[in-house]
Amino acid sequence: MQTMKPHVTLLASPGMGHLIPVLELGKRLVSDHGFIATIFVVTTNTSLSQSQLLKSPIPQLLEIVLLPPVDISALINPSTGILTQLAIMMRQALPSLRQAISAMRFRPTALIVDLFGTEAFAIAEELNMLKYVFITSTAWFLALTIHLPALDAKVVEEEHVKNHEPLLIPGCSSLRFDDTFEPVLDRNNQMYVEYIRMGIEMPTADGILVNTWQDLEPKTLGALGDNMKLGWVTQAPVYPIGPLIRPAEPGLSSEVLAWLDMQPQQSVVYVSFGSGGTLSAKQTTELAWGLELSEQRFIWVVRPPVEDDAAAAVFKTGKRSDDTPDFLPDCFLTRTQKTGLVILKWAPQAEILSHPSVGGFLSHCGWNSTLESIANGVPMIAWPLYAEQRMNAAMLTEDIGVAVRSTANPSEVVGREEIESMIREIMEKKGNARRARAEALKLSGENALRKGASSYNSLSHVANDCVMSLK
Ligand code: UDX
Repeated sequence: MQTMKPHVTLLASPGMGHLIPVLELGKRLVSDHGFIATIFVVTTNTSLSQSQLLKSPIPQLLEIVLLPPVDISALINPSTGILTQLAIMMRQALPSLRQAISAMRFRPTALIVDLFGTEAFAIAEELNMLKYVFITSTAWFLALTIHLPALDAKVVEEEHVKNHEPLLIPGCSSLRFDDTFEPVLDRNNQMYVEYIRMGIEMPTADGILVNTWQDLEPKTLGALGDNMKLGWVTQAPVYPIGPLIRPAEPGLSSEVLAWLDMQPQQSVVYVSFGSGGTLSAKQTTELAWGLELSEQRFIWVVRPPVEDDAAAAVFKTGKRSDDTPDFLPDCFLTRTQKTGLVILKWAPQAEILSHPSVGGFLSHCGWNSTLESIANGVPMIAWPLYAEQRMNAAMLTEDIGVAVRSTANPSEVVGREEIESMIREIMEKKGNARRARAEALKLSGENALRKGASSYNSLSHVANDCVMSLK
């Protein structure tokens, strides 16, 4: 009798922070667990970085399908936040997803969606498929998401937001007000409503996959195993399957990698704020001076600042004596040309972080960037900007001890002296303890993915359930 390979479909929301881990999950299901996989990608206009990523080699039995671009311009206004936009895009893409799956010759056994795709569970139910959600962030973030709908509105609104009291998540670290997830701040905001919906839908899944591993978040994963504690409506098992990260492409040639080849070991601090992070004009200037004062080599992926204050105008009108962009201090490129590299577009981050010359990472703490840093044993300076990044920063500094973080209030500009001191803290000898911790976590993450180890077994469990559902 011929045994059929199980076919799984995955749904990725737009944005590299989601697409990258969904792609890695698809690859692993095919190469380690005997699946055929189809990844549906929701697009607006495929960005350059997205198309580059989608060109990277994939296993034979993995197919990537771009769903027809969705136009949400009539459904948003200038103040609609990016998280809400993502939720709306995913909703608009549902009819084409339903059509694409319905048209398949053999019905796939399961649908795995990312955080923004839980409304597609209805399609999985209708088509008699198993349904899973893949959290591309931490177990702690998952715990907050599914616990929030059970929380008294008064607790969130008055105690947490108004009085700045920590939000208690049973069995997990509590969430300080300064580190709170943005949508929690405004219960009238559309994103809050969307987020609560996601928190209600997630536990209705056949399972929740998380890009973390047992030894990284033992306490939180323990609490998530005890469903009653978090006020769950149903019992969806949680599967830590990480760390799934995009591997560096061997032999990739680029100017920045050639420059790194010429620098001493662990001498370069890499600065990047992910796929969409920007700073104010004032903050960009302070960061430039902080880098210079630290006297460390650096690679800085810099984006034009957001014009958030009057100070921005001063920088815009400043005349430049060299090629330095007008949002950086005058002659910055000339003064730092021997020690620094400024990149104005997309950088080959996975390759940079795995280069032996890199010794530290100043990061917005997006979860993919964080995992890439840990996977290379690189200690961090945590500089969170939006979404759940402040939670990630708190975990990195206080819980797992691989990062330093500014003491400034999130609304304040971090001064150049503090930036200098944080960079020295990581790059000089005093950073050794954090480096050792990052190295230890790198090994623990690698071990978790080995055949027979915790993350491998978690994904095997999901795979077995899919195979059983075929019988
Ligand atoms: C956001 C959230 O902040 C993150 O925590 C969440 O889990 C996903 O959505 P994003 O801002 O995209 O993520 O950051 P991150 O999660 O770090 O992902 C960015 C990815 O793009 C990383 O894999 C990084 O290597 C890559 N990247 C980014 C590049 O390759 N080059 C760049 O120049 C910038």
